[in-house]
Amino acid sequence: MAKLTVSDLDLKGKKVLMRVDFNVPIKDGVIGNDNRIVAALPTIKYVIEHGGKAILLSHLGRIKKEDDKPGLSMRPVAERLSNLLNKPVTFVPTTEGKQLEDAIDGLNDGDVLVMENTRYEDVKDGEYVKRESGNDPELGKYWASLGDVFVNDAFGTAHRSHASNAGIAANMAQTAAGFLMEKEIKFIGGAVDNPEHPFVAILGGAKVSDKIGVIDNLLAKADKILIGGGMTYTFYAAKGIKIGNSLVEKDKIDLAKEILDKAGDKLVLPVDSVVAEKFDNDAPHKTVEGDVPDGYMALDIGPKSIAEFEDVLKSAKTVVWNGPMGVFEMSNYAEGTLEIGKFLGTLTEAKTIVGGGDSTAAVQQLGVADKLSHISTGGGASLEYLEGKTLPGIAAISDK
Ligand code: 3PG
Repeated sequence: MAKLTVSDLDLKGKKVLMRVDFNVPIKDGVIGNDNRIVAALPTIKYVIEHGGKAILLSHLGRIKKEDDKPGLSMRPVAERLSNLLNKPVTFVPTTEGKQLEDAIDGLNDGDVLVMENTRYEDVKDGEYVKRESGNDPELGKYWASLGDVFVNDAFGTAHRSHASNAGIAANMAQTAAGFLMEKEIKFIGGAVDNPEHPFVAILGGAKVSDKIGVIDNLLAKADKILIGGGMTYTFYAAKGIKIGNSLVEKDKIDLAKEILDKAGDKLVLPVDSVVAEKFDNDAPHKTVEGDVPDGYMALDIGPKSIAEFEDVLKSAKTVVWNGPMGVFEMSNYAEGTLEIGKFLGTLTEAKTIVGGGDSTAAVQQLGVADKLSHISTGGGASLEYLEGKTLPGIAAISDK
């Protein structure tokens, strides 16, 4: 059933609690990448343009002790939001109490307020009490009492059942999805539940263990699963192909065998690799087919694999990509990831969905991000969604 969205709500004059995922990389108060803030702008703008008072809640990092707090304040995030919106944003340096309540009471229609990091509630008087991440019922109830309506736009947090998403929703008559959440559900949920075929998944990254849930779920739904990245060599080991010094999860070789048996020709492994003498961009390297020679480690997929993958992808109607094809951060081993990203940009007839830090960085670096259907803002959330799990943050959104 379709979910209630922010455009179904009457926002005029309402105190609109909004859970956003502003969990951005931050160091010494400097934001490394503001993608997640930018991705929430359409919903925030919609709320204020429709006369709502936007009260934003987000976590930032993980807080386990008092010392974690100062470096993880939302203040720089509120400042960046103000720049992006080109209007003042009130920052309230607390997560509960009179100062917060007075600031909310003082809001005019169309104003924006950001409260302090919701995970400040995880540590009280020096103790790790996990009120936010343990979904303390009183905290969810309290935050719910601060608003008239609740909009959840925090897809990146949807795999968590915390006070600021599930807890607030449990205390509101209705919870609506924001536009970002709606888009993530439409594309990732759509690919998992009702993909247009051929449906091809490209899965990369270092470990089979990180992707096993996704492989398992997508084997039943996808027409092909293309495997790249370090996890390739655990599959190679399972097939008795030599892997040299390549990355391998020895305790997952049996699991890899089971997957290969179950998958038949649905699972496509790279046929060649770029191999190097050391894990070093400047180490001597070459391309080999099949066996990785002794003394070498595989760090990227090779040109034949790229061509084979592109051949599978060219007729796809739905493509989901998560995880790099090689050591993307080293230029000599980035080609597999970059070529796949570039090729996805040419698939104008397909729904192309990208998730995960490196794959997203690749399509952004290539400037093809706007040619793709959807770039997910979720890390763990998008993986769990692809695994077919019910995400508590989405489950808590009301049906239309
Ligand atoms: C994320 O970045 O994956 C989300 O914001 C969730 O953060 P968490 O893993 O600290 O709960």
